[in-house]
Amino acid sequence: MSADQYKQAAAQAAVAFVESGMVVGLGHGSTVQYALEALAARLQAGELTGIIGIPCSKHTQNEATRLGIPLGDINQHAHIDLTLDGADEVDPQLNLIKGGGGALLREKIVAQASQREVIMVDEGKLSDALGTRFDLPVEVLPFAWQHALAFIAGLGGNPRVREQAGMPVLSDQGNYLLDCMFGPIPDPHALARQLEGRAGIVEHGLFLGLATDVFVAGPAGVRHLTRG
Ligand code: A5P
Repeated sequence: MSADQYKQAAAQAAVAFVESGMVVGLGHGSTVQYALEALAARLQAGELTGIIGIPCSKHTQNEATRLGIPLGDINQHAHIDLTLDGADEVDPQLNLIKGGGGALLREKIVAQASQREVIMVDEGKLSDALGTRFDLPVEVLPFAWQHALAFIAGLGGNPRVREQAGMPVLSDQGNYLLDCMFGPIPDPHALARQLEGRAGIVEHGLFLGLATDVFVAGPAGVRHLTRG
């Protein structure tokens, strides 16, 4: 099976945990796309009713609308039962790197508001130390972005601006994204604190202590990992 087929298998396993009446956070990315399709299929089959989705990106909002998934405004829902999202890297403590799709800020807001943060990955995303397989995305204000870049370079992050067709990629908030090659990060909590202490850095892609469940698909099937 291909990585895409594993993503689909993980998404289908995770969507089986959605129950009628839940408020469901909807992340962003190719794995989430499979989850949206699986969720829409369950709604169409009448297996689920009363679902309200909270999208983490404009793209997910458009896709969920196209698929007929009812959506709500995060400000109208103090409680999100469960969020379905992908990840770029997962360590043994279920800490994550996210943001490869550029939606890390809204994804983290929704994750922090969720009772369960359910992550769906193919097993190629597992690693012993975050930063081994994927560069850390960091969202920065365009104002003085060069200063944020220099600050991260000083931390050893080898940052570069994410670009498309020679222009900076903009997040849904209109911010720039820096992809930072730290290599294996020995203390993700310490790095998170350093990044959070710097004005102009809007958010970073270290999701520490947020994932409650990870569905990992590989040749042996789908495993369900839980934290705590
Ligand atoms: C989006 O900003 C990311 O956090 C995605 O969840 C992550 O990049 C995984 O993407 P795929 O599901 O496309 O691999």
